[in-house]
Amino acid sequence: MLATLPPVTFDSDLGLAVLRTPNSLYALRVAPDGSPRHLYWGAPLDTVTLAALPEAVSPAASSFEADAAPDELAPQTGARFGPAGLQVRFADGTRGAQWRFTGHRVDGDELRLRLDDRHGPLRAELCYRVRADTDVIERWTELTHTGSPDGPPEPITVDRLDSASWTAPPLSDYRLGHLVGGWNSEFQLQRDRLPVAETVLTSRRGITGHHAGPWLTVDDGTATEEQGEVWSTALAWSGSWRVTVHRDPVGRTTWTGGFGHEGLSWTLRAGQSLRAPAYAGLYTPHGFGAASRVWHHYIRGHVLPEPERDRPVLYNSWEATGFDVDEAGQIRLARLASRVGAELFVLDDGWFGTRRDDRSGLGDWTPRPEAFPGGLRPLADEVHRLGMDFGLWVEPEMVNRDSELHRAHPDWVLHSPRLDATELRNQLVLNFARPEVEEWARRTLDHLVRTHGVDWLKWDANRAFTEAGWPGHPDPDRLWIDHTRAVHRIMDQLRADHPGLRIEACAGGGGRVDLGILARTDQAWTSDNTDPVDRIGIQHGFGQLFPAQAMAAWVTDSPNTTTGRRTPLRFRFHVAMAGALGLGGDLTSWSEEELAEATELVARYKEIRPLVQRGHQHRVTPPGPVTAVHYAAPDDSEHALLVWRPTTRFGHGPDPVRLPALDPEALYLDPELNRVHSGAVLVRKGIDPRLPDGDYASSLIRLRRVGP
Ligand code: DGJ
Repeated sequence: MLATLPPVTFDSDLGLAVLRTPNSLYALRVAPDGSPRHLYWGAPLDTVTLAALPEAVSPAASSFEADAAPDELAPQTGARFGPAGLQVRFADGTRGAQWRFTGHRVDGDELRLRLDDRHGPLRAELCYRVRADTDVIERWTELTHTGSPDGPPEPITVDRLDSASWTAPPLSDYRLGHLVGGWNSEFQLQRDRLPVAETVLTSRRGITGHHAGPWLTVDDGTATEEQGEVWSTALAWSGSWRVTVHRDPVGRTTWTGGFGHEGLSWTLRAGQSLRAPAYAGLYTPHGFGAASRVWHHYIRGHVLPEPERDRPVLYNSWEATGFDVDEAGQIRLARLASRVGAELFVLDDGWFGTRRDDRSGLGDWTPRPEAFPGGLRPLADEVHRLGMDFGLWVEPEMVNRDSELHRAHPDWVLHSPRLDATELRNQLVLNFARPEVEEWARRTLDHLVRTHGVDWLKWDANRAFTEAGWPGHPDPDRLWIDHTRAVHRIMDQLRADHPGLRIEACAGGGGRVDLGILARTDQAWTSDNTDPVDRIGIQHGFGQLFPAQAMAAWVTDSPNTTTGRRTPLRFRFHVAMAGALGLGGDLTSWSEEELAEATELVARYKEIRPLVQRGHQHRVTPPGPVTAVHYAAPDDSEHALLVWRPTTRFGHGPDPVRLPALDPEALYLDPELNRVHSGAVLVRKGIDPRLPDGDYASSLIRLRRVGP
């Protein structure tokens, strides 16, 4: 019965909006004061129960408290004392809006609520979208200065425009899950009891950031991988952002988030609009594992540009050669890469301008003549002849002071004339918000792709914004929005102009991975840390939100350049096989035995690639002494299990690994042992992980459903 109800309804008499996803329901009600208030987010409800739901009012109403339900976007007026998702200042100094609800529009799976300020020329539209195949709801806000361009120039200052505010129901306790880290240690999953306070997650860096990510989960502290109610949200934005989670003393938790960090402000002039990026959210009663699988399905279905195209096994030369690249050396590596089974060869940093190290040449995107006397074509042609695609590293948003580009256009960088410009990695950031800079970048990249036979761009960004001024511009903070939008736009344009071109997102490793960048890139470089032991934790965090298909993972040399740790080739492979496998070692120093083993393991990966890249991921044993990840074909026909044990300990032999996603009624063949297992045993007791003795032990186990 529930399934036949339309996905989006709005009852004008009750002011009640209902969004239905396959397994959840979201409801809000327009309050008598004109403000849409949160009503419900959780398991599906029938219409009668829904209509009878009490308002989510504060149990501690007084003259010091708001007594109304939490806002869908708090407008900084009235008895609202939490973080306001909308903060505006009018020309006369008035702060905040007081809404009149002026209408709604339901257009298939999209709902728009129109709110006009009762006192000033401001309109907000709160927008919602549901899709038939996912429990993810997308929300965003559009703000318009409704004054006439011919009227008095009364700009409105926007101090905050969040995409959406979310509310969890009253729970006995609250726990916040989020990602923290740094360069070389991205995506560390943190689950903390939420304090009764405002907790701010933010990036002030102009990129999404290694240190925090705009994704979170909220639960009552008891959810597990397999069980428990989880609410989770993720912002589709690749620049600075802020999410403020507010747990109040009487047990309500709301969070509001959007682009930009505190202290920025944007000007709206009459007739102008500002659209906040999508902020997506989901509810599941089935624990963190299910929340991740809903995200993965959504990202594959509605975010990634070409989810059905398998990510190639790539070879990247960075760890092997650093800046020391030339045609002969790269061709040597390309031949070895193709021998072990790579399908894409990526030439990394150092190929252009005067770039022999990180001090010069960045911005000058022409092949370095001493290294590539005939340009890049001979290398690209050889790579293609070897049957691989050709990929090229670029860092279009950045410039060395010592470069032709900076000498020609010193004003193109983010800067404030009265301040010293901080250089990081000897580079400055180009202001992509300037139309001429965006156009230069688009043309330059287009030319590179066109003339060098480039099939793949690795788009890097190796520093954050500092002293981010835009001299002479009337609304300089716009650069924090417009720079990111230009990056997105250029990527979109390149893809449109070069069908087949693929782009890898990178920002000094995983510094810019979010739903916004993944809407125009195929995968993200997860971390510059390629140590397989560290990677287990990094990959665990990455996979909370993003699918394995988007997680680039290389096998590199031992000892590892980041940690100095020595690990067997097989272990390194098994860890990297959990994502989009790549190779990044100096293949010229690998022995014949290592090359042969690598060839065999690449072939094994290609066998399980459809499962890893398109299957359902189950983190059956989260990081600990033993970690295991299970990839299941959506139709249950094939399964792959990757198991890793970095260190061994006497008396702590590996327990069987339970596979709760299998069908207990079915039979599964382990082709390697030619043994048939009962599904019930695999679900309830588990499978022997077949780990060899010693440290850095790993295994890849495959199962095939053979009945009934
Ligand atoms: C940072 C990236 O994460 C690395 O993979 C490499 O491309 C370097 N930049 C090159 O400078």
